[in-house]
Amino acid sequence: MTPFGHLLAFRADPLGFLTRVAEAHGDVAAFRLGPYRVWQLTHPDLVHEVLVTHASRFRKSPVLQRARIVLGDGLLTAEGDHHRRHRRLLQPAFHPQRVRRYASVMVDRAAASADVWAPGTPTDVHAEAVRMTLATAGTTLLGTEVTEEVDVIEEAIDDLLSAYRLAFVPFGSRLSNLPVGPARRLQRGRRTLHDLIDRMIRERRRRGDDGGDLLSNLVFADAEDRLSDREIRDEALTLLLAGHETTANALAFSLQLLAENPHIESQVHREVDAVLGDREATADDRDRLPVCRGVLAESLRLYPPSWGIARQAVEDHVAGEHHVPAGDLVLVPPWVVHRDPRWWPDPTRCAPDRWAPDATVDRYRSAFFPFGGGVRRCIGEGFAWTEGILALATIASRWRLQPVPERPTVLGPVITLRPRDGVWLRPEARWATPEMRPCP
Ligand code: HEM
Repeated sequence: MTPFGHLLAFRADPLGFLTRVAEAHGDVAAFRLGPYRVWQLTHPDLVHEVLVTHASRFRKSPVLQRARIVLGDGLLTAEGDHHRRHRRLLQPAFHPQRVRRYASVMVDRAAASADVWAPGTPTDVHAEAVRMTLATAGTTLLGTEVTEEVDVIEEAIDDLLSAYRLAFVPFGSRLSNLPVGPARRLQRGRRTLHDLIDRMIRERRRRGDDGGDLLSNLVFADAEDRLSDREIRDEALTLLLAGHETTANALAFSLQLLAENPHIESQVHREVDAVLGDREATADDRDRLPVCRGVLAESLRLYPPSWGIARQAVEDHVAGEHHVPAGDLVLVPPWVVHRDPRWWPDPTRCAPDRWAPDATVDRYRSAFFPFGGGVRRCIGEGFAWTEGILALATIASRWRLQPVPERPTVLGPVITLRPRDGVWLRPEARWATPEMRPCP
């Protein structure tokens, strides 16, 4: 071990490192990353304690706290009263009735993108998914057509994320203000996104109309609930960042699973043809597509976008028979738990039927937590399921997908578990013309 602990091994291959640690040391394993001792907990009961029953003993990890240099002070990084107040204000935008209203935008964006794929041409479906989900988040949450600005936003987000490693180094937040190297890109990306969102806020105030989107909720909140423009901007930026890439990754890996498993793809096609026939999906279809839901669930299980959820203990905690002192870090990794054969027989096999209603009864509580749990559970979970299922059905109603063996998918676990160089698939048209799609 080096003076940095296991930092080098972890950085070189984080997913392999966590898996090896669990295999060698079991459900409670401690290792050192730089100045921190990290406890990896991989039994679902221990996960549940950290995220739900004893959540008040923990706060977000120092790396996420430092992510404020990228995200500002939004919901993802907030703590305590600040978090409670902002969560209450944002919650109405994610009410199931509200999410239903977003469904038509989700389907429109997926259709617009998938309609122009070229048959037989290798296509990076991850890049396509990112554009779809970014456009959806812009329209539904910020109430603005960002289709024209998607390229600018994507470039700015790339700039922000490229500088994310500043969050890993001490004094990163001070470095982020210097006119050097990655800090420059961070400042450029931040400025572009801040300008864009500030413009949207000003525009909304000027028009004075409540478009029913999240930005309107915040801008026109009652006086006692009103946030400052800076707080509104940080929330909008957090939602734009937290809300689009995760869902895009889940969708892209779902499409990869279809390409790798033609028998599952055939089941999806049969389901989509029977339920949708020749029309587009609507909000009501979300709960009529169990095979699509099962594929998305398998994608979230096998490739959880939040691959390692981290906390810092603010009080002492007991994990199994081990004492975790305040100050230590705790890691509960969906990547490891979701692939544990104790809870998932034949864990690496994609099997959407694991999610059939009668099959899920026995699944061990908390063995599946792609959206975290407890008070910090993902606010956008319902949004993500709706978008993922409807976009998958929209694509599957048009295309059959083939692997592109020359361009295999390489996993790139950074902030999210994303494909490092895209997910390349070859779409083949299912119907010679859209009119040939079957009647339901
Ligand atoms: C497949 C898609 C998604 C996945 C896998 C995912 C995963 C997660 C996870 C694991 C957390 C908890 C992190 C922690 O406890 O440290 C979280 C929190 C959060 N997510 Fe998501 N997310 C997804 C989609 C979305 C969407 C669509 C939005 C918004 C449009 C969103 C916004 C947020 C926000 C704001 C938080 C912080 C919530 C809080 O602390 O109160 N996410 N997400």
